[in-house]
Amino acid sequence: MCGIIGIASNKSVSSNIIQALKKLEYRGYDSAGLSTIDNGEINEKKCSGRVNNLEKMLFQNPSNGTLGIGHVRWATHGIPNEVNAHPHSSEIVSVVHNGIIENSNFLKKELINKGHKFKSQTDTEVITLLLTDYLKKDNLIDAISKTLEKLEGSFALGIIFKEHKNLVVGARRGSPLAVGYGHNENYIGSDSYALKTMTNKISYLDDGDFCILTNDKIEFFNSKRKKINKEVSILSNDKNDSDKGDFKDFMSKEIDEQQITSKICIHEYIDKIRNDINFYNFSIDPKKIKKIRLIGCGTAFHSCLMARYWIEEITSIPVDSEIASEFRYRKIRFNKDELYIFVSQSGETADTFAALQMCKKNKASTCGIINVTESSIARLADFVLPIYAGPEIGVASTKAFIGQMIVLYLLSLKISNLRNEISKDDYLKKIKDLKNLPNLIKKTLSKQNEIQLIARDFINSKGAMFLGRGYSYPIAMEGALKLKELSYIHAEGYPAGEMKHGPLALIEDGIPVVILAPRDRYFEKTISNMQEVIARGGKVLLITDDDTEIISENIRFKFQIPKSNYQLNSFLMTIPLQLLAYHVALLKNCDIDKPRNLAKSVTVE
Ligand code: F6R
Repeated sequence: MCGIIGIASNKSVSSNIIQALKKLEYRGYDSAGLSTIDNGEINEKKCSGRVNNLEKMLFQNPSNGTLGIGHVRWATHGIPNEVNAHPHSSEIVSVVHNGIIENSNFLKKELINKGHKFKSQTDTEVITLLLTDYLKKDNLIDAISKTLEKLEGSFALGIIFKEHKNLVVGARRGSPLAVGYGHNENYIGSDSYALKTMTNKISYLDDGDFCILTNDKIEFFNSKRKKINKEVSILSNDKNDSDKGDFKDFMSKEIDEQQITSKICIHEYIDKIRNDINFYNFSIDPKKIKKIRLIGCGTAFHSCLMARYWIEEITSIPVDSEIASEFRYRKIRFNKDELYIFVSQSGETADTFAALQMCKKNKASTCGIINVTESSIARLADFVLPIYAGPEIGVASTKAFIGQMIVLYLLSLKISNLRNEISKDDYLKKIKDLKNLPNLIKKTLSKQNEIQLIARDFINSKGAMFLGRGYSYPIAMEGALKLKELSYIHAEGYPAGEMKHGPLALIEDGIPVVILAPRDRYFEKTISNMQEVIARGGKVLLITDDDTEIISENIRFKFQIPKSNYQLNSFLMTIPLQLLAYHVALLKNCDIDKPRNLAKSVTVE
């Protein structure tokens, strides 16, 4: 993962580099660094830990210079310490890198044989030393091109040179890189969000491209060193979204925002007058679809799992939900009339992007369900359905999950409608129910106090189980993922009916077990599974819309979600699970917005 920034300006750049790096911390936060050309020399500063540490360093010992590059790291090669932090510099060149150089061991040996010495354990340093080597005899463009040709794997690079004091080079293959146009300064950055406070005029490098920026000019080249032109996009202005406001952290803000973001998303897609769902430009005629494959990672994969239940129920289309990192290496038999749907908040997840590239190569019809509409996946997919959640900053995905599920639910209704597989009445009723979802989310959020109390019971436990059947199973998976990533408590999401095939052995006195049992067609069966857990000492939190007084006397906690159309229970059960993970993590003093070892955008395999 990692985030990179580069600025060529006519005024000092270090403070803008720091501000941009703070915005890129969602991509990695185990170390940070920057290089500028200061008094004709490369001035490199780096440290382990957050950008704040780097800022303190600069406060004591400022970096001057009107051009520079910066980096936030999520370690792949070498532990997160100062030496392995980027930039990686020689006497004459300094490099920041996002991605993985897969042939770095081979290149390292070649460079060592030529007499070069390595300081770090990173793969990136080979780029620095290759450039240093080529620059001995080649001009700048040749040295860059020859270096890029040698690299295998993925990269977005920012490079500055001692001998070229007015320019920054950007290059990409596999990892994203945006280029920004400012007034007397120009930029490169891992995403447009990092550049947004400086400019709203952006272009994107495509795979194999590189660019050379000075403060008043940007030149683009393709992999054949041919000069090319780039389209310029103007970004929308949503400045208030990146501010925590009165909230303690971004995650609590984003959980709370779901009552609004769900409304915006539904509003974007439902035509108020016709009471119909607006989806145009399908890359494939919905009547002809023979199979749907939904592909994503982590939380986005859970929304794919969820959608499978919906699509299978209201259409006759067979559906597979796939984890992108597995899918991309399987031998897939692509057939005509199949639709491949890629779900991703960031639109930059490397595995999901690679899976999309594989589908494009095989001429399959593709659709992206994406939050960041300027992202690589959004730009490559045949058609895009945005989720309109606004920037999601907390590493744990919350409002994007609800947005993904809304769009997938709408998509399943629309496809079913276009195929005449749902009655008009049922279609209209489901749209009407969905329009009420934001109110129900608001109601559920208002019971946050109850979860705060329940969370106390989880903090000393070694592990927890989340169980559900049918529509509740993907939500159980998501609840477990949220708890483990935020509070570092081991948690498993399981289909309740599978417990007796092994995991029941884990149930002992006092283990917290969250049971998701809304009154749908699985209710009685899930309640029986709950009794089996209680009989073995499990401490049950039951989440249900059932309002009968007593299902079992031995339930420790019950959280009631509002009553709704049974297919909407999945949305409402998600809320208490997000709140549970949040409050357990808060009580355990964990870093809510930046859990250990993680990053918001996973741009490496
Ligand atoms: C968990 C979480 C991750 C992401 C996953 C995919 O809370 O946020 O599991 O869902 O890394 O990311 P995107 O959706 O950006 O492709």
